[in-house]
Amino acid sequence: MADNKEIVLSGIRSTGNLHLGNYYGALSKFVRLQNDYDCNFFIADLHALTTSPDPSQLHANVKNILAEYLAAGIDPEKSTIFIQSDVPEISEMYLLLNMHVGIGELMRTTSFKDKARKALGIGAPAQEGEADDEAFEKEIIGASTNKRVNAGLLTYPTLMAVDILIQKATKVPVGKDQEQHLELTRRFARRFNSFYGVELFPEPYNFDFGGKPVKVPGLDGSGKMGKSEGNCIYLIDDPKVLRKKVMRATTDEGPKEPNSPMSEPVANLFTLLELTSAPDVVQHFRDAYADCSIRYGDLKKQLAEDILAVTTPIRDRINDIMADEAYLRRVVAQGAERARERAAATLAEVRHVMGIRKF
Ligand code: ADP
Ligand code: TRP
Repeated sequence: MADNKEIVLSGIRSTGNLHLGNYYGALSKFVRLQNDYDCNFFIADLHALTTSPDPSQLHANVKNILAEYLAAGIDPEKSTIFIQSDVPEISEMYLLLNMHVGIGELMRTTSFKDKARKALGIGAPAQEGEADDEAFEKEIIGASTNKRVNAGLLTYPTLMAVDILIQKATKVPVGKDQEQHLELTRRFARRFNSFYGVELFPEPYNFDFGGKPVKVPGLDGSGKMGKSEGNCIYLIDDPKVLRKKVMRATTDEGPKEPNSPMSEPVANLFTLLELTSAPDVVQHFRDAYADCSIRYGDLKKQLAEDILAVTTPIRDRINDIMADEAYLRRVVAQGAERARERAAATLAEVRHVMGIRKF
């Protein structure tokens, strides 16, 4: 946490347990970054409220993610770990930054369109385009008050920009799906700086150790592993459940001729194998696929054991950490104090340049 290190910040919404997608797409990178950067990792509980405002679940979900962060190896002595709602400066700056954000640009955000469609119960557009946007806007404006798209969902990118800008972070390790939000953050930062003639905010970029961002596939044959897709292997899954999930993964009838192209479900299993297994194991199954001797059952058994080798130590630690409430409280109290220090300093600058002064 020395001053001269570049500032890294990332967060995950508290909407359930973490899965292998979150682990390889985000969490494992957080752990690798913490020795070389000024790292700040938080639990986005305010963002979680945009889609799951269930008060009986929120706190438990925050606790889950916190324990999972720690169990995966984020070290509170090296990184600042905090809960978004413990930093009230974020909420105030969210109000202030919203004065510089256009509702049009927010409405054009892909994640907003997807989530608003879900909230209104309307399907995906036949094709992207202006005509569709017009119809979509009409749906939103005309929606009845009990089937509304909440304003928090619309302003989700403002809140995310504030998370980043209030800490003056320049590196934001996230999956590919979050890049549009980062682009908006850069635009808001530039706009604020130029409107007030200041150099307050640096522009943040995604960070992936030079490689291309991973997309962890689901077990159901297509698409990515995701909470709302219901196709996840969770870090917390016990071995019996995990083995069953892997053994049930979608495959095909097997290669009929040597060196056949792979179907998507089988390619997905190989992607998972590549993430979790040793190179010689992957090569063994690639060769077996190429000469048609592969038995998917053997591949799945191996895959389940190799995933378990990654998740079991994390799972054991999750259970221990969850039981230690006093430790969890200490971690987030210390994290909030550190996060608030920089947030308060940035907020004071923002208030000042916007002309909010004390009498
Ligand atoms: P989910 O899609 O399951 O709701 P989140 O949106 O909470 O997950 O994602 C938290 C972080 O994990 C983000 O940085 C996101 O890019 C990353 N992530 C989520 N799913 C995957 C996946 N299947 N592959 C790679 N990264 C992922
Ligand atoms: N929108 C991110 C997601 O869904 C979570 C998030 C909120 C975030 N604020 C952030 C990520 C700031 C990085 C930086 O995964």
